[in-house]
Amino acid sequence: MRLDSCQSEYSRRLYYHKSCPKNKLVDFIEFGIKLLILSMKILEYQSLKKLNTFGIDVTAKYFAEFSSINDIQEILSNSKFLNTKKLILGGGSNLLFTQNYDGLILKNNLKGIELVKQDADFYYVKSAAGEVWHEFVMHCIKHNYAGLENLSLIPGNVGASPMQNIGAYGVEIKDVFYELEAYNLADKTIRTFSKADCKFGYRESVFKHELKNKYIITSVTFKLFKTPQFNTSYGAIETELAAMGIIDKSIRAISKAVCNIRNSKLPNPAEIGNAGSFFKNPEVVRGKYEFLKIKYPTIVGYELENGNMKLAAGWLIEQTGWKGKILGDAGVHKLQALVLVNYGNAKGNEIYDLSTKVLESVKEKFGVELEREVNII
Ligand code: FAD
Ligand code: EPU
Repeated sequence: MRLDSCQSEYSRRLYYHKSCPKNKLVDFIEFGIKLLILSMKILEYQSLKKLNTFGIDVTAKYFAEFSSINDIQEILSNSKFLNTKKLILGGGSNLLFTQNYDGLILKNNLKGIELVKQDADFYYVKSAAGEVWHEFVMHCIKHNYAGLENLSLIPGNVGASPMQNIGAYGVEIKDVFYELEAYNLADKTIRTFSKADCKFGYRESVFKHELKNKYIITSVTFKLFKTPQFNTSYGAIETELAAMGIIDKSIRAISKAVCNIRNSKLPNPAEIGNAGSFFKNPEVVRGKYEFLKIKYPTIVGYELENGNMKLAAGWLIEQTGWKGKILGDAGVHKLQALVLVNYGNAKGNEIYDLSTKVLESVKEKFGVELEREVNII
């Protein structure tokens, strides 16, 4: 615990204060209060096993949870952290720890949801970054704020949603994003980012690149429809709605359909460690797709607006024979080849090495380069 070093500093000051009767009592009391706050917040060698959905058993050298901007400032005012590397942690559902984290992990616990304004067509709903994503989606559905229903049941926190512009079943958050606020770790100011500032792309944003680890996203505001725009372009949703006997669509019914589909396909991290799709679906030029289609007529590809094709990485991986394979405690899921799993006590490196093997097989068979979606730490 950091308490030890604080305690010796505390004793030193106590001695100093005792030996100088006219010292500054106020300064002393202030220091004592600060010490109490900090000593409650900073943990050392904290286990992260329950804080990442892969269930990788690693520790963080320093670990602190924040529930306010004040907390962030308080933690970072500790000079010890000036040059310490930092990682913001949400639900830990898009991370793979390959070693103990030799720095400060800041766990986001900012809470609160607010309808900040509305106009004729839209509700502007602001959520603090530490809200659980699915609970936020359920809150919006309950209040008839439409637009997030297709994104039901994605694990993680609201604050991480812009990081990779989360997407599922035909919708990405960029479609309903209004703005976000983020704390600049260097100059300690709060900046508002517009949609353009975020440079959203498929599983991409500015926060994964030039602004990586430079900001803590503290809130996200979404622009949600007053009149729902049902998006059932993803075929499986229509099929599921029919199976549910739904005739009149609603955001509730679509959310339920999406949850049913996800539950039937994706492993629940509470049962088998995973971080969702381990790789992105690769984009190739049309010529490449057509070349592959001749050799592999069942290849799955979707046309993009730029004329290129997006290939289903799950299909590519399945064709290489990796689906359902297990190496030690690491495996490729038997129902969804895009998902790598921890069957028990896999080390982060074992999962990573497996991902390299999968990547090489796909490259060798199809000449297509897969890119990891999960953040490797
Ligand atoms: P974490 O894993 O904690 O963090 C991810 C990254 O964001 C890290 O680099 C972290 O440092 C950074 N970060 C987190 N919070 C902040 C913040 N407040 N400020 C700055 N940086 C921050 N994703 C999809 O897009 N679509 C899906 O359909 C989908 N399905 C999934 C299904 C399963 C079963 C699982 C396990 C994951 C799935 N994912 C999906 C991936 C994951 O849920 C999302 O990427 C989610 O947004 C991650 O949120 P998190 O809070 O867990 O982020
Ligand atoms: N497929 C196979 N074999 C497999 C898996 C998939 O052939 O083992 C084929 C399916 O038959 C289907 C196609 O691949 O024709 C697409 O599969 P699916 O609908 O399951 O979606 P996905 O492309 O594998 C993407 C996202 C998911 C998101 C779903 C639904 C990426 C990297 N993944 O998966 O996001 O939930 O679509 O929209 O874009 C995530 O990012 O973590 C994630 C889970």
